[in-house]
Amino acid sequence: MQQIVIQGGKSLKGKVRISGSKNAALPILAATILTDKKNIIRNVPKLRDIDTFCRLLTSLGTKIKKETNKKVSADCSNISNLEAPYDLVKTMRASFLVMGPLLARFGEAKVSLPGGCAIGARPINLHLKGFQSMGAKIKIKDGYVLAKAKHLKGAKIYFDQPTVTGTENLMLAAVLAKGTSLIENAAKEPEVVDLAKVLIKMGANIKGAGTDTIKIVGVAHLKGFDHNIIPDRIETGTFMIAAALTNGEIKILNCIPGNVKALIVKLQSAGVEITTKDNSLFVKGKHSIKPVNLVTSPYPGFPTDMQAQFMVLMTMAKGTSIISETIFENRFMHIAELKRMGADISIEGHTAMVKGAKKLSGAPVMATDLRASACLILAGLAAKGKTTISRVYHLDRGYEKIEEKFSALGASIKRISNH
Ligand code: EPU
Repeated sequence: MQQIVIQGGKSLKGKVRISGSKNAALPILAATILTDKKNIIRNVPKLRDIDTFCRLLTSLGTKIKKETNKKVSADCSNISNLEAPYDLVKTMRASFLVMGPLLARFGEAKVSLPGGCAIGARPINLHLKGFQSMGAKIKIKDGYVLAKAKHLKGAKIYFDQPTVTGTENLMLAAVLAKGTSLIENAAKEPEVVDLAKVLIKMGANIKGAGTDTIKIVGVAHLKGFDHNIIPDRIETGTFMIAAALTNGEIKILNCIPGNVKALIVKLQSAGVEITTKDNSLFVKGKHSIKPVNLVTSPYPGFPTDMQAQFMVLMTMAKGTSIISETIFENRFMHIAELKRMGADISIEGHTAMVKGAKKLSGAPVMATDLRASACLILAGLAAKGKTTISRVYHLDRGYEKIEEKFSALGASIKRISNH
């Protein structure tokens, strides 16, 4: 089992380059299913979730080639299997994204039901309701979703709650459906917009991605694409907070400042100095952090994927801050671990009260999910003494070369293997 060991208390300084976005790359990999032509995806991050998705595509019959320089080619001209097995879906819920494109191109799909996950129940009812309104017959049998539709037809779909992968799955289905689809109360995340750009390159007719209403007029065929994945906004935010809480100075390269606006505003309210340029950000920490309240919400609101990391910063603020999690019902698992490091945090329902100005001290801690792992790394960097983080495999799902990147900024951080 691998662990990450950090000797905290170093001020981080230097430059870091942000990798491609995991949550943009996954639906874009799913989009390759829509065509029998070859596709090229660039700036693909080297992550476990990407490997899992590539394994899934390979099991369907896709030829995936990992070329040099984060370039991946995918050829789905010989898809022969329409089933996504439990083994792959249970390790990564985003595997459910193959449902839309398989159904649209081949008229049927069998995908394992994802089940619960460490951060909440995470149902897929809205995906299924959308497919049904496009004419698909859905059956749940033996833990699998079986969907069939000779030819999907355009439909009006209203989400009673915006869902990121739900919006993406239905876009992936609607592009080849007969007629016009309207997705209302759609997710507006930059990853949805990146997927729309890819689909448009393939010849799809899509308007409104990035707004509440996405209009898609189905086409008969789609062609191959060549696309460069956008930078990861959650990795960007994680390094911004690292600068803020180590009183550091970090220049973050290859990022899109406009995609982290909600975080910039909160960090500035906390007293952190931030300068933005076209594709870079400069973040300078301050000795004195002010408390800031926040509520997570769909984009362009404050991302749930940054809540745990921001909470670490608030443990250092002079005063009390209130953090409310509104997207997932069980996304406070990191709090128990932060308390072991000396944080003073109490929870009431979906709200955490963080009493700041406590100096964190190093401790052995355990990661419970991807973003909780990042939060514990940040806590370890800020803490006095040694922090050992177990279950780091969560981290490898979504952060590329994280120890190397933090080491290059002056952190004392290493990965060890315990057999
Ligand atoms: N929801 C439903 N029914 C559905 C779908 C969603 O009730 O059919 C609810 C969820 O339970 C949740 C809310 O809607 O309360 C929003 O969930 P959403 O569907 O938007 O989440 P997701 O698509 O499963 C993506 C990211 C997550 C990120 C969330 C929220 C990917 C692959 N995953 O998940 O990323 O937290 O959006 O922004 O894009 C991560 O990267 O660590 C991660 C968990």
